[in-house]
Amino acid sequence: MKKKLVIAIDGPAGAGKSTIAKIVATELKYIYIDTGAMYRALTWKALETGTSFQKPDDLTRLARKTRLTFRPKNGVFHVLADGKDVTAMIRSQQVTSMTNTLAAVQGVRRVLRDLQRQMGRRGGVVMEGRDIGTAVFPNADLKFYLDASPMERARRRYRELRAKNERVSLRAIAEAIRKRDFKDRTRGISPLRVADDAIVVDSTRLTLDQVARVILEKALQSE
Ligand code: DC
Repeated sequence: MKKKLVIAIDGPAGAGKSTIAKIVATELKYIYIDTGAMYRALTWKALETGTSFQKPDDLTRLARKTRLTFRPKNGVFHVLADGKDVTAMIRSQQVTSMTNTLAAVQGVRRVLRDLQRQMGRRGGVVMEGRDIGTAVFPNADLKFYLDASPMERARRRYRELRAKNERVSLRAIAEAIRKRDFKDRTRGISPLRVADDAIVVDSTRLTLDQVARVILEKALQSE
């Protein structure tokens, strides 16, 4: 019988993690888990309930009592917070800029880490985020760290937002990415870093499909 792997994909914003993780999960018939969406959904809930971002204990309490669920619907990964579908709302600029603050709270990270371990305990998952190979599944069967130059990542985000008819400037996106990179890499708890045993893939000059092939090849060898 084939082994059902835990595949961890980490890396900075805009490196193509979601697109690639989805392709890999679909091909392997695995479950795809976007952990960034979990941090975003809690951020949305904190904004919605007026929870102070200056109070770590309140944010931790909110993380403990909010029920996060996921539902694939027509190929889209839907996120529900206490039964409410927040899939679209969690991509707003406001949520994007506040998620970093919530994600730096140790208690919140503990709650989400336990939930993520629970979701991946039977294997057969592709989980993407910032700390999957380092903190959530240090014993993952396969770990990848996806990267791309900051300018290429900004260009990808720009094209994505323009396709949705959002009025944005490439410069503003590049600046936002630079700030997020800095915060993700320098926070005290579970910062973004390359796990010692991770395979680093630089996608600056590769298509996302080519990167997915690299991962799939390794996965098929390891199953
Ligand atoms: O991947 P994303 O842009 O949806 O992630 C949103 C934020 O959540 C990002 O700024 C960092 C945080 N995050 C995290 O701290 N740990 C994870 N495993 C996933 C995301």
